[in-house]
Order: sequence, then C-alpha cells, then structure tokens
Amino acid sequence: MSERYRGHFIVLEGGEGAGKTTLARSLAERFRETGRETVLTREPGDTVAGEKVRELLHLELSPWSEVFAFLVSRAQLVTTVIRPALERGDIVICDRYEASTYAYQGWGRGLDFDELERVNRLATGGLEPDSVLYLDLPPATGLERKHGEADALRTGQEELAFHERVRAGYLFLMEDAPPGRWHRLDATQAPESVATAAWEALGG
Ligand code: TMP
Repeated sequence: MSERYRGHFIVLEGGEGAGKTTLARSLAERFRETGRETVLTREPGDTVAGEKVRELLHLELSPWSEVFAFLVSRAQLVTTVIRPALERGDIVICDRYEASTYAYQGWGRGLDFDELERVNRLATGGLEPDSVLYLDLPPATGLERKHGEADALRTGQEELAFHERVRAGYLFLMEDAPPGRWHRLDATQAPESVATAAWEALGG
C-alpha cells in the first residue's frame, strides 16, 4: 500500500469491557508528554455523522444494515479525521477499526469475510493500522465489567456465545496479521500494567 503519511496509526481492539477507552486516554497522555501531536478518536462516533450512526445502532438492524452503519462512521472518520492527522505527521489512536467489523459482524453474526473485506476497503480506501493493540479478556469477565452501561449498542447486549465467537475471530485475525502489527495484551491486569505493556509493545 502506498501511503504518503508520516504519522503513526494505532488501533485498540478487543471485546466488551476490555478497557480500551482507559488505555486510549493513557497512551494519548504518554505520547503528548513526549511532545508528539496525538489525535484520540473512536468508532463508531467522533464526527457528526458518526454520532448519528451511534444513535442508529441502538435500533434493531439487519446484519448487513448494521455493517453499513458502521461503515458510514468509518468512512467519515477516515476522510475527515484520521487521514488528515496522519498526513500532518500526528499519532492517531483509534478505539476500534476494521477488525471490529470482521470479529463482530464476521465471526459474531456469521457474515462472509471476503465480502466484509471488500466493503470495508471501499470505506477506508485501504488505510490499514500500523499497530493494533488487542486487549484480550475472557468475554464473561468483560460483560460483567460492562453490565448496565447506558450507551451499550446492540452488539454489546448479545449473549455470551456471540462474544466467545468474537474473541475467536480476534485471535484468528491476530494470527493472520502481518508480523509485528498486532500485540496481544492481557486485559485481566490492572489498567496501569496494561498501559505499561502497551507502551512497551509500541516501542516506547
Ligand atoms: P464501544 O464503543 O463500547 O466499543 O461499543 C461499540 C460496539 O460496537 C461494540 O459492541 C462493538 C461494536 N462494533 C461492531 O460490532 N462492529 C464494528 O465495526 C465496530 C467499530 C464496533
């Protein structure tokens, strides 16, 4: 892939309640302390269109409608936030990206992986992360942590078996990724330990 940017695109992935949001904030702080311009963003959301998509995702959608809703948010975020930041040379930390679609809609909902890959590429223009930090946690623990959270989308309210499939999907994606791109972090650890492990994985 020929990308002109000089920044670094970091994606945080994981199941429910894995601590991505806390880790994202902590990493952004560490990068900023080293003087790097850092953009912290999340999917779905963070643009006006993305926030509308978040509202839409509280409705009961067909599996493919759900995919396209996530892709509206992603396409808008890539075009208006992520690419411009990378072209400026910034660090971009994004809470979820394409692997969420493969894990949740592919493994979780059973949609065809090749088709998901095709539509995802249209949404991202082929922009792939430089580093993926995968926060691994037994789904039952994550669901317990997230229990009763007000903004949980429908995917977050699925049964345990769905989340077990999502985790299997993530583990497959990690095995299948180009060497050195994915880093598995043990998300059962305390947030400070996860942040330190993440920082080290990124070569900090
Ligand atoms: P979160 O903001 O708590 O991470 O919730 C986002 C939810 O959306 C979570 O259940 C994962 C799900 N999701 C997908 O199913 N597919 C996607 O492509 C993305 C980005 C998120």
